[in-house]
Parts: sequence; C-alpha cells; structure tokens
Amino acid sequence: MSNSKDKNNSPAASADNSLIEQRRQYEAGTLYRDSLAASPVKQFEDWLRDARDAKLIDATSVALTTVDADHKPHTRMVLLKQFSDDGFIWFTDRSSDKGLQIESNPAVCMLFFWRELERQVRIEGHARKVDDSLSDEYFYSRPEGSRFSAAASDQSRIVTNRKVLEDKVSELHGQFSDGSIPRPDRWGGYVLEPDYFEFWQGRNDRLHDRFTYRLRAGTQSTAEPTQWTIDRLSP
Ligand SMILES: Cc1cc2nc3c(=O)[nH]c(=O)nc-3n(C[C@H](O)[C@H](O)[C@H](O)COP(=O)(O)O)c2cc1C
Repeated sequence: MSNSKDKNNSPAASADNSLIEQRRQYEAGTLYRDSLAASPVKQFEDWLRDARDAKLIDATSVALTTVDADHKPHTRMVLLKQFSDDGFIWFTDRSSDKGLQIESNPAVCMLFFWRELERQVRIEGHARKVDDSLSDEYFYSRPEGSRFSAAASDQSRIVTNRKVLEDKVSELHGQFSDGSIPRPDRWGGYVLEPDYFEFWQGRNDRLHDRFTYRLRAGTQSTAEPTQWTIDRLSP
C-alpha cells in the first residue's frame, strides 16, 4: 500500500487518490434572463418538471441544511413532498436532530442537484411546522411499513442494535394488528418559507449561468412576482 505522504507530504499527490483530473465540461443547457419565469416558484416548477421528464432518479430528493444553537450547520437529504407559493414541504420526526435544530433556529437551506441536467437550485428561508391535518393526510397516505417504522424509530437517537428497532416494529404490529397505527405526535411536516432562490446552470469552461431571486424587504406575499428582485451572479 502506498504511503499517501510520500509525495509533497500531500494526500492529493498520491496518484491512486488524486481527484485533480476529475473534471468535465458542462454543456447540457443555458439560462438567460429572458427565459426566467417572473416567479421563482414557477421557475422551480419548470425545472423540477424537466428533471422528472428526464426520469431522473429521486428528482425530488434535496439536501436540507439546518443550524444548531451553536451556529454549527448540519446537512442531510430529505424528500420534497409538496411545494407552492406558500413554501416547500417535507416530513420527518420533529424530535430528530434536524427538528431540534429548527426549534432553536428556523433558518434553513435546501439544495437540489440534478446532475444529468447540470443544474442546481438553492432555496433559503425559514421553516415552520405544517398543520396537523396536512401531517395526518401525508402520514396516512404512506405504505404501512413506513408508518410502522416511523412510529418505532426515535430518529437520530442512539440505538443499541438493529434488533431493538425490529422488536419495536413487531411490538407495534401486535398492538395495531389491523395496521391502523396512529401518527406519532412527534412526526410531521415542515414548510420552508423562501426568501431567496438561486438557479444554476452549468456552462462550458466554468462560465456558468446563475440567477438569484431575492424577496424584497417587508414583502407580504411571495406569490406576487413583482416582489422578487432578479439578478445574474458571476459564476
Ligand atoms: C434520498 C434520501 C431521502 C430521505 N428522505 C427523508 C425524509 O423525507 N425525511 C426524513 O426524516 N429523513 C429522510 N432521509 C434520511 C435523512 O437523510 C436523515 O438520515 C434523517 O432524517 C435523520 O437526520 P437528522 O439526524 O439530521 O435529523 C432521507 C435520506 C435520503 C438519502
């Protein structure tokens, strides 16, 4: 096994591990001011439709960043389940680390990356809990296995081994043998209410296209396109 410190005392200098040559051109598309929708939600809708039409796997998966009480950021994937002018919704265990982080700091960021289309979308804003009725509607639409797993899992907490989880699922099946397990109080949705979007389209020679939408200060309605200021950013 080669010693990664042999050359220049730098891990990157090891031929086996070098990532320096890992690059490609981005040439799948372009993004111009004239082609942008006036509303960022409409622009997102158009791009998500492109991703779904292209049959991208997990096109609705998104990296979600939250910040804890010590200002330390944490990122993980979730699945976007709904979006509208009111915001971007996902579901989770609200007692999880991300839930506790949102409790202490509602500022959150979502990042979509559609690799095959060479596009990323950044959405920033504040998260709040959705109404119980919406959490119920989504929870009871989930497959039975997912509902039992959600109830058995105290998300983000340490568990001794997998068997503990499987035993808990079995116990709940015994308790709710007809499958009618109720939504745990700690399980539900959040909505990210956006104040900032960035649409990024990869271009040749790294001269990428980037456009931001910023919600004007004091704006009441994110649904009104004129409330958003659009700018092109240097790549
Ligand atoms: C593609 C993908 C989708 C996921 N979707 C969700 C989701 O919608 N909700 C959720 O709670 N966890 C989801 N997870 C698991 C989370 O990434 C994470 O492990 C979990 O929510 C615990 O995060 P936390 O400990 O930071 O709170 C998903 C993971 C992947 C890889």
